[in-house]
Amino acid sequence: MHKERLWKAQQSVDEAAKHMTGIHRQRYHFMAPAYWINDPNGCVFFDGAYHLFYQHNPYAPVWGSMHWGHAISKNLVDWKHLPIALAPSEPYDDHPEGGVFSGSALSHQGALYLFYTGCTKADGLPVQVQCMAKSVDGGITFEKHPENPIIRQPPPGISSDFRDPKVLRVKDKWYMLIGASRGGGAQQGGDGCLLMYRSEDLEHWEERGVVASSNGAYGTMWECPDLFYLDGKWVLTFSPMLCGNRKVVYQVGEMDFEGAVFHCEAQGEIDWGQDYYAAQSFQGPEGQIVLIAWQNSWDWMPWWHGHGPTAAENWRGSMALPREVVLEADHTLSFHPIKELEGLRSGRREEKNLSIEQERHLIPCANSVCFELYMEIDLEQTTADILHLFLRDDGEQRIRLSVDISQRLLVFDRGFGADVPHGLCSCPLELEGATAILRIFSDVSSLEVFADDSRTTMSHAIYAARPDQCNTLCAENGTAHILRLTVWELIAC
Ligand code: FRU
Repeated sequence: MHKERLWKAQQSVDEAAKHMTGIHRQRYHFMAPAYWINDPNGCVFFDGAYHLFYQHNPYAPVWGSMHWGHAISKNLVDWKHLPIALAPSEPYDDHPEGGVFSGSALSHQGALYLFYTGCTKADGLPVQVQCMAKSVDGGITFEKHPENPIIRQPPPGISSDFRDPKVLRVKDKWYMLIGASRGGGAQQGGDGCLLMYRSEDLEHWEERGVVASSNGAYGTMWECPDLFYLDGKWVLTFSPMLCGNRKVVYQVGEMDFEGAVFHCEAQGEIDWGQDYYAAQSFQGPEGQIVLIAWQNSWDWMPWWHGHGPTAAENWRGSMALPREVVLEADHTLSFHPIKELEGLRSGRREEKNLSIEQERHLIPCANSVCFELYMEIDLEQTTADILHLFLRDDGEQRIRLSVDISQRLLVFDRGFGADVPHGLCSCPLELEGATAILRIFSDVSSLEVFADDSRTTMSHAIYAARPDQCNTLCAENGTAHILRLTVWELIAC
């Protein structure tokens, strides 16, 4: 049955991909060949390549009947699509409003293992169980474990929101972390939490309890948890549901695997934008940690106003750029666009020592849509209160990104010049030091901003259809001194 379902799903995607001509398609971000994607899944470096799996509906550009799509890459920039890896096919994972939900991957004794949540429904409520699949052909085809589900129900006190297993090995044991909600449920005012299980053989799992929880402050359900070790500290990441403007957070601390408790020492936002969710980590061959996330948002988020116009083109969703995670001296984290992206640069334009005032200054660029912009602002010489960037301006609509120097804020306004509800988003900026560096990655349907040496990041899906766009700068209440402004064209395909 699984093989049949995979074949049918693949036929559907291949057929749609043949006719794919969408004008909103990204030029250097990961997308499926066609139809819907959401969370990254099973991020793993295995047998000399990075494997990225992802939540995928291979039949329509809307969420439903979740499968795992699959792609590989040597550098996290150039991707090759592989056959769909997992399809709903069994009583425990086959449902149009469920399917093969998110999870993780690991390699062990030459095989690649996938752990996922099988989601079905009973009496209108989700039924979520944890499952395993295995590949013995180098990570191409996967067999579901005959004893699935390997965890059949949530423990007492935990609601039916019980999903997204992350499995890792520490010393001689396996640990599984599962996102959950206790005392209610995601939509019923529960408390988001993280459960831990332990195993000797990957098949039999012993429940170890709640290792971390929201305590009313971090949402009603923790989706897509991840845990990794970075320079002597454990880092926990998760996507809390119904937590105001917060939707992807990290906590740095100590993980007591024996005592089953996480001690948080520092915490923060991975991204402040409206479209960055379900971040997952790759561990590279040199031990580097690279995060990747879904660049879109859910209907339950306060600012949500649709998934954009790309459904008409038979696709929806892309992944944000891979970011390398760095542990700072104060135990907070920074998130740096990976170095390999520099290989995409061409058509460099540069200006130095600019004095920007009220009048609009045209930002030079070889491509006004797909670009990387690097800007160094001299804060000591700058008298202006705010530096505005008007991006992707087609004469009618534009995005305004403002570095509010006097208030220390980064303000993103995607509704500027257009009637976009909830288009405004802002976050605190540190602006410490004599200069401030801003990096912006613009692709056809997204914009990612890195400030404060990548400690502050903001990602958005944007849909600016008209190709005749320009980018300008201006300052408010004084002069902004720009030491260097460099723009590269960025295109991968
Ligand atoms: C997060 C999420 C996961 C779930 C998946 C279903 O975006 O809701 O919790 O496994 O999406 O597609």
